[in-house]
Amino acid sequence: MKPKILVSREVFPEVIEHLAAYFEIDYHAEDAALQPAELAARLAGKAGAITMLSDRIDDDALAGAHSLKAVCNVAVGYNNFDLAAISRAGVMATNTPGVLDDTTADTVWALLMASGRRIVAADRWLRAGYWQRWKFNDDWLGQDVHHATLGILGMGRIGQAVARRAAGFAMKVIYHNRQPLPAEQERACNATWVDKDALLRDADFLVLMLPYSPAVHHIVGAAELAQMKPSAHLINVARGGIVDDGALIDALREKRIAGAGLDVFENEPALDARFCELDNVVLTPHIGSSSRATRLAMAMCAADNLIAALHGRRPPNLLNPEVFGG
Ligand code: GLV
Ligand code: GLV
Repeated sequence: MKPKILVSREVFPEVIEHLAAYFEIDYHAEDAALQPAELAARLAGKAGAITMLSDRIDDDALAGAHSLKAVCNVAVGYNNFDLAAISRAGVMATNTPGVLDDTTADTVWALLMASGRRIVAADRWLRAGYWQRWKFNDDWLGQDVHHATLGILGMGRIGQAVARRAAGFAMKVIYHNRQPLPAEQERACNATWVDKDALLRDADFLVLMLPYSPAVHHIVGAAELAQMKPSAHLINVARGGIVDDGALIDALREKRIAGAGLDVFENEPALDARFCELDNVVLTPHIGSSSRATRLAMAMCAADNLIAALHGRRPPNLLNPEVFGG
């Protein structure tokens, strides 16, 4: 008999086919998250689960899941996991690092350039039929990307992939991390470590690339926004909650910074309606990793983590090795 697993939300058919060779699948094939009570009910009796960022896995979700051995998130971030609760329950947790680095770095650049050069506002204006009013010296004067200073807060794999792309624009790249990178990695990104104040003060484009944890909650708030140049743009493709959205809305409305490109928000999938009233912000619905190839690679990565876990092998992307006895 095949072990039973839950797939909590719609994924690609190839992934289901791959998993079906090993498991009996309870598939919630819908593009909506399971409500917490239903998630808990459907985890009961399962040996494993493929989960998404919209699934909160905590004590309540795990209360009846006595046979559960592994939860495999289709995401590199896992702030939807209460990792301590998962470990207490003796369940392995995995994520999907690596496979989405380049696609996410590309998304950062798409938002950076769109914000700097006011592409989305210009598109809206053009569609609205205003072209006759065009002036040489007007609203469309953007921030040059070439030769500007790129500041990166959080220099993990994705931050480094963002930095490498800056070479083609002859940008100066500065970054802040708790620890500077090893010299060889710094050279590969052509990036210089600076303290956080210098990063905020000097960046023309400030890119946030930190994983979320309570320690970085609102690490960019009113005080940090006040340190930025009025011509600067803030790009967040990392996580909601790193930025204080209310403080950012105020700064954008009062033009204390020039613009922002945002893929992530506090309280997703709800969007603070005040963002929609602003012309100097580009908004996307958490699509950082969203190319077909990368989303497929992420789902396959999660599937392979689950297959390994339920066959007594150490999953390649195990987040809580202490629960793995072998
Ligand atoms: C996306 O946000 C991820 O964490 O993979
Ligand atoms: C993200 O997880 C990174 O390593 O940058």
